[in-house]
Amino acid sequence: MSRVRRLGILTGGGDCPGLNAVIRAVVKAAQSHKWEVVGIRDGFEGLLQPDRARALTNEDVRGILPRGGTILGASNRGDPFAYLVQEAGSVHREDRSDQVVKNAGALGLDALIVVGGDGSLRIGHRLQQKGLPVVGVPKTIDNDLAATDVTFGFDTALNTASEAIDKLHTTAESHHRVMVLEVMGRNAGWIAIEAGLAGGGDIILIPEIPFQVEHVMEQVAERERLGRDFSIVVVAEGACPAGGSQVWAESRDHLAPARLGGIGPWLANELAARTEQEVRSTTLGHLQRGGSPTAFDRLLGTRFGVAAVDAVAAGRLGQMVALNGVDVVTVPLEAAIAEAKRVRPDGPLVAAARQLGISFGD
Ligand code: F6P
Repeated sequence: MSRVRRLGILTGGGDCPGLNAVIRAVVKAAQSHKWEVVGIRDGFEGLLQPDRARALTNEDVRGILPRGGTILGASNRGDPFAYLVQEAGSVHREDRSDQVVKNAGALGLDALIVVGGDGSLRIGHRLQQKGLPVVGVPKTIDNDLAATDVTFGFDTALNTASEAIDKLHTTAESHHRVMVLEVMGRNAGWIAIEAGLAGGGDIILIPEIPFQVEHVMEQVAERERLGRDFSIVVVAEGACPAGGSQVWAESRDHLAPARLGGIGPWLANELAARTEQEVRSTTLGHLQRGGSPTAFDRLLGTRFGVAAVDAVAAGRLGQMVALNGVDVVTVPLEAAIAEAKRVRPDGPLVAAARQLGISFGD
């Protein structure tokens, strides 16, 4: 694709460890083609205000590989197809996607690399349909994108969560307590089940398997009978009691997207009403999104960044880079956003956990 001279890159949605590895790889790989890279600040917001774009050089990406977050900033509010506008005390949504395509043209972008989760990739796909060439890079700690074996950021979040379980174990054992740990993941239980297995949790509650408080309680009581007078319960923020509903975080910010959160304290309360053991609840929250990326996430982010530049060079636009086994491949953006990847209740992870005697509260 000889006409490419300038690439744009933005990081959309929530931040995640490994974003800087992607940005660094894109800047360096683009240099081998003698292309310029323009960094867009704060996700798609930055394409509505072109003064938020600037050229990225080696100097800008030096030393950022071990850094969490994103040097470009991120935003989960700038959907140009439904842009929130506040005017004279009222709020409405406007389609500003034409403006985004126009601004990308004014910046001289031949292609835009969108590093994001399902929401940002969906926007990227729609912009591609409007004529702005896009290549997607899948990021999210939730690991819920079906078209890639794994997203970068997940491994770091998993390590943070399993380390938290290790720490809760020692205090649970000392005080003979039931410790409930709420982890993130939206409607997918990947962080909960993998961290629960890696950290030796006793009960794992995931959105894919509705649970009953009584059954959680039975496992706690059974452990007590066996002389194990403490229990670790790992609960995904999207987990749901059978016949009940998910718990959503309260927010005063009416413009922010709705967020899951609060099932951990709710469950701890329910358990405390049913056992003599003390119950405590910890919500790990955004600690899972922060910190230095693991070597796995740095490597995957780097490979994805290089592959995104390769995709532009080969003219494979409207695609997302993805991990397939040991290979980085490209898949159509359309396929990438078609379905979410969730834990299979009849799959190997759940089966392995059940064989270890772990309860899913079902
Ligand atoms: O998608 C990543 C994620 O961290 C989810 O696991 C979580 O539900 C959500 O983002 C939290 O969003 P916010 O950063 O807006 O609180």
